[in-house]
Amino acid sequence: MFGVLLVSSVAALWFRHDRAIAFVQRRIDNQALILSEHFRSSVDAIDATLKQLALHGQRVGGAKAPPEAWTPVLEAAYSGLPGLGSLTVTDDAGTITAATIPLLVGRSRADFFLFRHLASNPQSGLAADEPFRAVRDGRMLIPLGRRLVSTDGKFDGVIVATLEPARLRGFYRSIDLGPDGLIMVRHPNGLVLFQEPSRSDPIGQPAVDNPVFRAQRAKPDSGVLRGPLEPGGRSYLSAYRTLTAPPVIIAIALSESAVLTPWRGEVVIVGFITAGMGLALLFAAFVIAREIRARIAAEQLLQQSQKMEAVGQLTGGVAHDFNNILTVITGTIELLEEGVADRPQLAAIARMIDEAAARGAQLTNRLLAFARKQPLQPYPTDINSLVLEADKLLRPALGEMVEIVTKLDNRLAPALVDASQLTNALLNLAINARDAMSDGGKLTLETGNVELDEDYARSQSEVTPGPYVMIAVSDTGTGIPPELIDHVFEPFFTTKGVGRGTGLGLSMVYGFVKQSNGHIRVYSEVGNGTTIRIYLPRAAAAAGVRAPPSPAGTIKGDGERILVVEDDALVRSQVSAQLESLGYAIHAVPDAVEAFAALESGAVFDLLFTDVILPRGMNGRQLADEALMLRPSLKVLYTSGYSENAVVHHGRLDPGVLLLAKPYRKEDLARMVRRALDADAAESQPAARTGTS
Ligand SMILES: Nc1ncnc2c1ncn2[C@@H]1O[C@H](COP(=O)(O)OP(=O)(O)OP(=O)(O)O)[C@@H](O)[C@H]1O
Ligand SMILES: [Mg+2]
Repeated sequence: MFGVLLVSSVAALWFRHDRAIAFVQRRIDNQALILSEHFRSSVDAIDATLKQLALHGQRVGGAKAPPEAWTPVLEAAYSGLPGLGSLTVTDDAGTITAATIPLLVGRSRADFFLFRHLASNPQSGLAADEPFRAVRDGRMLIPLGRRLVSTDGKFDGVIVATLEPARLRGFYRSIDLGPDGLIMVRHPNGLVLFQEPSRSDPIGQPAVDNPVFRAQRAKPDSGVLRGPLEPGGRSYLSAYRTLTAPPVIIAIALSESAVLTPWRGEVVIVGFITAGMGLALLFAAFVIAREIRARIAAEQLLQQSQKMEAVGQLTGGVAHDFNNILTVITGTIELLEEGVADRPQLAAIARMIDEAAARGAQLTNRLLAFARKQPLQPYPTDINSLVLEADKLLRPALGEMVEIVTKLDNRLAPALVDASQLTNALLNLAINARDAMSDGGKLTLETGNVELDEDYARSQSEVTPGPYVMIAVSDTGTGIPPELIDHVFEPFFTTKGVGRGTGLGLSMVYGFVKQSNGHIRVYSEVGNGTTIRIYLPRAAAAAGVRAPPSPAGTIKGDGERILVVEDDALVRSQVSAQLESLGYAIHAVPDAVEAFAALESGAVFDLLFTDVILPRGMNGRQLADEALMLRPSLKVLYTSGYSENAVVHHGRLDPGVLLLAKPYRKEDLARMVRRALDADAAESQPAARTGTS
């Protein structure tokens, strides 16, 4: 781009340079013409005077008339014509009979070319001779003469005026030649008639041979040329004209550097403009390149987050179905364990299955967390006290080799987050840090209020600008190689040996933070350590950390009647069996239509325990809403393996809703069913729950 600008500027300047030269050549050609015309008109004036003097001669008796007859007339004519050296009258024998310079009277001009030429050419008009130097003062003069003819038509002598070209200088000086400009007038025989301006007086000197006069010899009339006037000299633009009567060559030369001064001014201006535009272009190119780089980076981030999103969806789908399977296993295995309690071998197998199922449930929970599909219960949370609590948990877990440092911002705003999941996330990060510091090191937990601005948000994907609460977990461990950093959040990505890491820790943290409308960044340098920053949305009002879930324990039923709605037959029969074993009376149906049939049959129920997602066009939420119209005192407990559904929006439980997340163990079921049955209107209000601490 700059190249194009430069080339076009240079081309434009070159074009203007050539135009400037051509313009000056035309101008000096004109000036040469003007000079020659001036010379000619000066001669014409002399010729007119000579003609008049010739007529006067006829009246006074010709060349031989007494000097008194001639002298006053010659003097008058002489004073009226500037540029004249002298006026002389010569008789038919070539002797001067009258002159404005008395000294000349009596001298012979018989041998002079001018006299001979006029004497022998009756038709001749004005004739000129070679220039000569005046005897008196050395001035250069050109003789111009006319024939004198008697009244009877015979040759009577000549009248001669000598033209002093130097007298024309006044006019030449009025011509603007610029610095170093020259006007030269030369006779074809090689004598300098004059030169303007000239340091010494070159008049009458033999002319130095120069290119202008060489050009004139080759092309006599007129011409224009360009080049130095002497070898190695500066370049000139020159023009010349040749006159025949008198025979003179008039040349004018202007220094090329002087005539190009305006053009050079343009060069400077255009140079400045080009440089300015070049700089502007350069700046623009820089800005554009930066913008492109930023866009590419944003594009890569977007691709990365889209990939995570796709993996998340797949993971979420698998985990959801897997949950139903696990619900059956974890639910029935307890029955089996009870049944085989008296057969130790089978009991051990049942325990093994139970443990495996528990591990499976843990895995699906982690996968759901990554898929941003775990049911979260975000509340305004004091992150500083949460970090201090986590610190207590971490100290024994990290061992003596790791020093824990906390840097807490004591003006920290509350964050809107699920506190127990955040604790979980911090534990995961701390464990990773410990693994990266096998020889010991320092773990720093830091909090602060942070404003993520538009610029930052634009450079990241899925970030909304605004105020955030930041928690940073830093270690002084091995660091993460740059080529791996993009992968650490991917599920099952681990660099730890088989059985040592599942590669789900950071995935969970990532999914949890994203689901909490937060943002997470990893900064790492191999050999120096890693910092993971979590940005959580600020909560509107300050509030304490939410209380941990109530302790588990098997709480029995008291014959309360429960309407179970579950489309999965296996899950339905398993949950029915569990509830019955807990002491409840169960009526189980696969969908909302049958549930209504049961309700309308007049049967009495204390609790509606329904899956959120149901077949045949009506979901659990709609079913519950309708059922409550029929039986306002009916209690409702939902269950779901999937967080995003009719009672959970954007990962948050709707207010006043109780949900038992699948898969669940018998204790969870017992506890939640009891809680639902015991709930009064206030219990299911979110304000009341916020109040517990
Ligand atoms: N603080 C850290 N320092 C160095 N590397 C880390 C750190 N945190 C994570 N990593 C790298 O990221 C990988 C993924 O971490 P992630 O927590 O997801 O899985 P994991 O720790 O390998 O297994 P899991 O947490 O499931 O037991 C790790 O295997 C490790 O290579
Ligand atoms: Mg980990």
